[in-house]
Amino acid sequence: MLSKQTVRKAAIVSTLLAIVSNVFIFTFPSIHPTRCSWHCSSSSTTGETVAPEALALWEKALFYAKRYVSDVVYQTLQAEEATDEGDIHMMAFGDPQIKGIWPNTPYRSRLDIFGNDHFLGHIYSTMSKRLHPDYVVVMGDLFSSQWIGDSEFYNRTRRYVSRLFHRDTTPLEAIQRENHDEDGLYKVDWDAWGKQFEREAQNNTFQFGFQDIHSWDPQRDEFLMVNLTGNHDVGYSGDATYQHLARFQQIFGKDNYWIEYNAGTDKAWRIVVLNDLLLEGPALQPEFVQYTWEFLYQLFERNFDGSTVLLTHIPFHKEEGLCYDGPELRYYPEVFEREPYKANLLRSQNHISEEVTNKVFNLVFSNDKPGIVLVGHDHEGCEVVYNRFNDQGEWVAAKDTVEGADYHLKEVTVRSMMGEFNGNTGLLTGHFNTNQKQWEWTFTLCPFAIQHAWWFAKAAALVAGFVWSLYIVL
Ligand SMILES: *[C@@H]1O[C@H](CO)[C@@H](O)[C@H](O)[C@H]1NC(C)=O
Ligand SMILES: *[C@@H]1O[C@H](CO)[C@@H](O)[C@H](O)[C@H]1NC(C)=O
Repeated sequence: MLSKQTVRKAAIVSTLLAIVSNVFIFTFPSIHPTRCSWHCSSSSTTGETVAPEALALWEKALFYAKRYVSDVVYQTLQAEEATDEGDIHMMAFGDPQIKGIWPNTPYRSRLDIFGNDHFLGHIYSTMSKRLHPDYVVVMGDLFSSQWIGDSEFYNRTRRYVSRLFHRDTTPLEAIQRENHDEDGLYKVDWDAWGKQFEREAQNNTFQFGFQDIHSWDPQRDEFLMVNLTGNHDVGYSGDATYQHLARFQQIFGKDNYWIEYNAGTDKAWRIVVLNDLLLEGPALQPEFVQYTWEFLYQLFERNFDGSTVLLTHIPFHKEEGLCYDGPELRYYPEVFEREPYKANLLRSQNHISEEVTNKVFNLVFSNDKPGIVLVGHDHEGCEVVYNRFNDQGEWVAAKDTVEGADYHLKEVTVRSMMGEFNGNTGLLTGHFNTNQKQWEWTFTLCPFAIQHAWWFAKAAALVAGFVWSLYIVL
């Protein structure tokens, strides 16, 4: 028999657990206050303050507890974070890869998927409330598979929009009203899209450029949202079809574009969004690869005099051992019975090939202004520096800057926001150094926790509520 006394104890314990775990999930950035904030030029280092080595364990614990509490207090009292006026604040999320629900998906997995969506949404909302980004970039692989139909693509977008990024779904519904099959389910008219694409290719009228855009929809958003293509969204070049590209562009926007800011001034800089899945082949639709190169040539011809932030999905070439993934390009076999038309085509790639990497960097970073590259794809995350040697026109990746190189470019592989990788948010700060008249870019990674921490907090709150009700009725 349950005694009222026992129930009371259980209620108190579960309430305490619920409070602690919920405080944790809503204040997780305070555990790493520096890594989870924009870089501030007044602090000379990008590292966290750390406890001196000599301290005893309990003293270290006290040190970190103090650091955490003081950040929580600061965040609660302070309405605005301390940053430098005019800095650029970009939040980058690596590969959310949300999975789909099918008629035969077991209930347990459905629950996991539901929880995972809200776990990712919790990271986004906590971080954006804390830091008010100017740009939010999702580094590609929004979904977990390129082998899905239009209706499933639409359904996952709905979850992406509403659960992950807490956005209004009306624009999406309007798209579905205009593009559907006889059952009213979303269906892209890729044939019409293809004809338009061909017309633009023939007349060379692709529109790639924008100026000073701070929001696609200023009524709705105070920031600019950029969705990159990933291999799971549009496929590698051996897989990418008109259907893939048409629906991505219809729902998530262009796959190749630049936005120039403050052009013609000292503070000129630009965002370059590149669909690097369609840079090399052999491709299923070689015209897509041509179109990507057309974009890069037009970009180059702008002779833009400013700093560049390059955003793309597949990392650039580097030797084995520098990052988690080594270089690898795989091709469909000569004889491929399942889909014979794919024989010999590019099947997957960990990196852009060496030759194409040199070519892209020479086109995008031709002006010697400081820049940075953010990529996704490998989930583990990594930072390398490309060192350019002018005499060879080659870019050599290394852990750090190499002496004698003529130009340095950092590439950050943004660690995934998935729970298995601890739910990360990448933070890129651009600061204009008025003495040097140059933009300086600083990247930090803010981890959250495995998705079970989020589940625990939610479950603990439910359990506490239940046990208190039991206590009342007993
Ligand atoms: C997408 O969602 C709609 C509405 O909930 C549903 O009728 C449809 O079957 C879903 N599509 C797929 C492929 O499951
Ligand atoms: C990126 O996707 C979101 C959600 O669909 C959308 O609101 C936003 O406008 C998209 N960005 C572009 C450039 O279309």
